[in-house]
Amino acid sequence: MDFEDCITLYRNSNNAGGGCYQIKNHEAKLLWNYAKQTKCVGKENTILEIGRYRAGSLVLLAMATHDSKVKIVSVDIVDGCRFCYTDAYDWLNDYEEKERIDIRTENSHAMENVPLSMLFVDGDHLYEGVKKDFIHHWNYLNGPCLAHDYTDPTCEGVTRFIDEWIEDGYVEIIEQVGTLIALKKLKDYEK
Ligand SMILES: C[S@@+](CC[C@H](N)C(=O)[O-])C[C@H]1O[C@@H](n2cnc3c(N)ncnc32)[C@H](O)[C@@H]1O
Repeated sequence: MDFEDCITLYRNSNNAGGGCYQIKNHEAKLLWNYAKQTKCVGKENTILEIGRYRAGSLVLLAMATHDSKVKIVSVDIVDGCRFCYTDAYDWLNDYEEKERIDIRTENSHAMENVPLSMLFVDGDHLYEGVKKDFIHHWNYLNGPCLAHDYTDPTCEGVTRFIDEWIEDGYVEIIEQVGTLIALKKLKDYEK
């Protein structure tokens, strides 16, 4: 399956109009590209998605890494959305490689750490929440970090924290599409 198939499937689903995705098509393509690259990196690859909501982005990550051993851990503090918008959850439930997908309901700031080959941050959008997510997972990351809603005027805390993180030399911007930013890790977090 390629990206266009993936988008067509979801835009034409029962939740047409982007019901499953919170990210826009051009942003989804960026996420797709980075997820796909993890298929080529090393042996033990894990993508962590923080913020699942209706699971549209999780399905995209699964499709982008299809036919690989890439593990995807998806965490959300609430589980309720799966009962409101079932398309993506139905797809995941029927997915032939569902053993690669680890769906968790817990607080991303406090979850057990695992080594990561990619981090996708789209959970708590408050300044302190984003900061906790980055700090909690940062030293376990060996790969790109993607974060949604950077420069979105309604998510001032996301932008402010990431700008500080850049200023402190932890990352540099690789590219930005819409409000989805891809960051290159430069160093571990120093307490
Ligand atoms: C914008 S939505 C995620 C959208 C999803 N990535 C997509 O593109 O389809 C943000 C989600 O983050 C979750 N969230 C907020 N704070 C969290 C936390 N501390 N730990 C885990 N999830 C959290 C919310 O429950 C919500 O479902």
